[in-house]
Amino acid sequence: MKNKLLILPGDGIGPEIIAEAEKVLDCLHTDFGLELEVEQGLVGGAAYEAEGHPLPESTLSLAHDADAILLGSVGGTKWETLDRALRPEQGLLGLRAALELFANLRPAILYPQLADASTLKPEVVSGLDLLIVRELTGGIYFGQPRGIHIRDDGQQEGINTLRYSEAEIERIGRSAFEAARKRDHRLCSVDKANVLECTELWRQVITRIGGDYPDVQLSHMYVDNAAMQLVRAPKQFDVIVTTNMFGDILSDAAAMLTGSIGMLPSASLDSLGKGMYEPIHGSAPDIAGQGKANPLATILSLAMMLRFSLNRPELADIIEAAIGRVLDDGLRTPDIAASGTQTVGTRDMGDAVVAALRP
Ligand code: IPM
Ligand code: MG
Repeated sequence: MKNKLLILPGDGIGPEIIAEAEKVLDCLHTDFGLELEVEQGLVGGAAYEAEGHPLPESTLSLAHDADAILLGSVGGTKWETLDRALRPEQGLLGLRAALELFANLRPAILYPQLADASTLKPEVVSGLDLLIVRELTGGIYFGQPRGIHIRDDGQQEGINTLRYSEAEIERIGRSAFEAARKRDHRLCSVDKANVLECTELWRQVITRIGGDYPDVQLSHMYVDNAAMQLVRAPKQFDVIVTTNMFGDILSDAAAMLTGSIGMLPSASLDSLGKGMYEPIHGSAPDIAGQGKANPLATILSLAMMLRFSLNRPELADIIEAAIGRVLDDGLRTPDIAASGTQTVGTRDMGDAVVAALRP
């Protein structure tokens, strides 16, 4: 049986970068015998325009059927004033929740070729290779009660709730310990246990299950310190595990250590290894349609998909090696170029990766 892949281009630069990943998929099919059943669907603002909802039933049912999902990006200024339930981001959050994609893996790797694209000194970031494991279906993103309401005194009040059950903490914790086992066996759990009870529980549970992973060195850090340490000495980290919102924030900071958010892929996995794969950058409305976006994060997301959901790690290696070669050859989209140097567009970058796939 062929594996089923659902492709959701989404909004902004999404369709442009997904088109390049599709070229890579075509090449893996023709030259490397990858057989997939591929469907396309609508999500985000594109789905709202076509069907009046950012996550239509048709997309949800395709997503349930798929073994893996490749998503571009969602969102755009055009939809920012819509009712919250209809905004593009709800398409993404709805998919994460409906498919229980609780484990979000966000690697931040500095390619040696891009050491001078980082705003940090080369000695601080060279050789950087860390992984953020972000809880993705709980915490303040989903906690009830939530909303904006009018109090008795007539004032408006906004409410969000940070909530984690032991079971939710335990499952993301185990994912992170397992990930650390495949790397340098070091795990740093990030919380705000000095102020927030919810993350005091987080620390207790992570500490308890740490007993099952004596080969992994566990440490704990408050999130404010973690933010500082990430820009001060990021190479001290191997794997970081943290809550939904802290992971959202720290992963953007970690991305910038590598020079560009345009290089970083992500995987969002359920307990059985089914996953949604997407670049961690957003829809970049400011450059959408201009052919300038960096497709490498999306192509690297495809590699993660082959490794984690489709059990074809050798094809993931081939893609990653091809990207290394293209960077060696000096090809740069504007986001990863040193100022004043020559750049290529989205399509040329995709074509170069495809050319480099073949030995
Ligand atoms: C991310 C994004 C999303 C998030 C937005 C688009 C809802 O920032 O994947 O990091 O906050 O999770
Ligand atoms: Mg984010």
